[in-house]
Amino acid sequence: MTAVITEPPTQTQPQRHAPPAPHIDLLALFRESGISDVLDELDCDLVGLAPVKTRIREIAAQLLVGRAREALGIESGAPTLHMCFSGNPGTGKTTVALRMADVLFRLGYIRRNHLVSVTRDDLVGQYIGHTAPKTRDVLKRAMGGVLFIDEAYYLYRPENERDYGQESIEILLQAMENQRDDLVVILAGYAARMDTFFGSNPGFRSRIAHHLSFPDYAPDELLLIAQRMLETMHYRFDADARRAFEDYLARRVRQPNFANARSVRNALDRARLRQANRLFADALGGGACADPAALTLLTAADIRASSVFSDSAGGEASRDTAPAFPTS
Ligand SMILES: Nc1ncnc2c1ncn2[C@@H]1O[C@H](COP(=O)(O)OP(=O)(O)OP(=O)(O)O)[C@@H](O)[C@H]1O
Ligand SMILES: [Mg+2]
Repeated sequence: MTAVITEPPTQTQPQRHAPPAPHIDLLALFRESGISDVLDELDCDLVGLAPVKTRIREIAAQLLVGRAREALGIESGAPTLHMCFSGNPGTGKTTVALRMADVLFRLGYIRRNHLVSVTRDDLVGQYIGHTAPKTRDVLKRAMGGVLFIDEAYYLYRPENERDYGQESIEILLQAMENQRDDLVVILAGYAARMDTFFGSNPGFRSRIAHHLSFPDYAPDELLLIAQRMLETMHYRFDADARRAFEDYLARRVRQPNFANARSVRNALDRARLRQANRLFADALGGGACADPAALTLLTAADIRASSVFSDSAGGEASRDTAPAFPTS
């Protein structure tokens, strides 16, 4: 990215005052970077997450100022950009990490718009001598971009003193320090477990520049997320289905294994499955041919057949009836 630097005008008259210092047009730099598109898309596409969106804008501003300083020759050193995303399952951590990679790329802080997502199993080997090559291979793949380590706390297992996770941690810490101009690491996981992990691994804590907390979604946000998902998949609720889904959410959030937007996606997948079976059952019963309206509609019955309406616990398991698909 080229910076928009304004040189002071050349003076023809003898000077009385010191010439104005070169300066930089931050707004032009902002426009030129194209990050406004990424930030606007983030605002539009993702429901809720107000504190996360604000933090991303703040970080983007800081990075842009960093670019401006660099352009004017102000020494800053390679910034530390490693981050921690903490929040419950399905709160959008992976989705936001991809957008963050986009921001970092557009501002020239990473070479490739590229995110490698891993968990402990990708980093830690089962046998002696396996861990270092595995971790180095992941680092090699991620270099120049973002390394996203999901449920990072599983790397550290104090109960097993010969756990190979420690070896991986040491290699990661070294890379986070020595290659921070070419790699951004994002650690993700549940807030409480991340805190414990940082408590036992202060090396990680001190290398993290930005902590972002992902709140649980409110019921109205979950409903909006469902509607966005349906739009993208070209499905829709009628008024009864929408009410049924509100009821569904009110029950589902209180059940074990509730995973915010991920649970919404799963619930919609199951409703689509039931819709397909309902349409076949109708066809077998001599019903009308399926038109676009029928093929895109999810009804209250498709929602209310969920086990969430009958079981006291147990999450989203389906209690669907035998398939209506004709057998030959
Ligand atoms: N704010 C949001 N608006 C719209 N869709 C969302 C939002 N947050 C998450 N989603 C959708 O919900 C699903 C789960 O999100 P994502 O995988 O980013 O969550 P996560 O926090 O990484 O979950 P996990 O902890 O289980 O890995 C994705 O399909 C994503 O597109
Ligand atoms: Mg995730």
